[in-house]
Amino acid sequence: MSENETPIKTPKQLIYAIAGAFIIPVIVIVLLTKFVGSLKNPEKSSDAYTAEKIAQRIQPIGTLRTEPYVSAESDNVVLASVDVGPLSGEAVYSNRCAACHEAGVLNAPKIGDIGAWKPRLGQGLDKLVYSVLNGKGSMGAHKGPLNTDEEIKAAVVYLTNKSGGSF
Ligand code: HEC
Repeated sequence: MSENETPIKTPKQLIYAIAGAFIIPVIVIVLLTKFVGSLKNPEKSSDAYTAEKIAQRIQPIGTLRTEPYVSAESDNVVLASVDVGPLSGEAVYSNRCAACHEAGVLNAPKIGDIGAWKPRLGQGLDKLVYSVLNGKGSMGAHKGPLNTDEEIKAAVVYLTNKSGGSF
């Protein structure tokens, strides 16, 4: 094909070619923009931005209801049971351990008292957890329905890591 062979032979064709070269991409872009816009905003109606809809979209994943749940089918009042998963060591500590270990009640080794904890930490985590589950000295046994053994263990880890331990 020689250089002179081109489909554009007249000035009119040249104008059409230039016009086409601009108009076709513009149409394609307009169509694409509309298409992408429709993907992004399936709720076309303007009520997608009402306070209620926004609140629905940004609500936390789970909500915990604490009031008694009254079933629609029966007159029974059922306490809604929500599985919240294992409690953190910090939570168990605050609920069940802080009473003694915060201020050293009954000579309990205080949280953060590195000197008091040092000789105990050497026993290892399992021994310490065993003492708490089964009781030791003035500390009663903590095994039971209130917490799983794993939660007690987490509380021991929390308490001892605040007191020079590294479990
Ligand atoms: C009634 C007060 C009291 C409560 C409640 C209490 N403790 Fe203690 N705890 C003590 C005392 C006192 C000791 C020292 C016991 C000893 O060595 O004779 C102790 C010792 C310990 C020890 C060291 C055990 C060892 O073998 O040296 C750990 C660990 C411990 N407590 C963790 C906990 C955790 C975790 C909780 C909560 C789940 C808890 N304690 C709740 C009083 C308490």
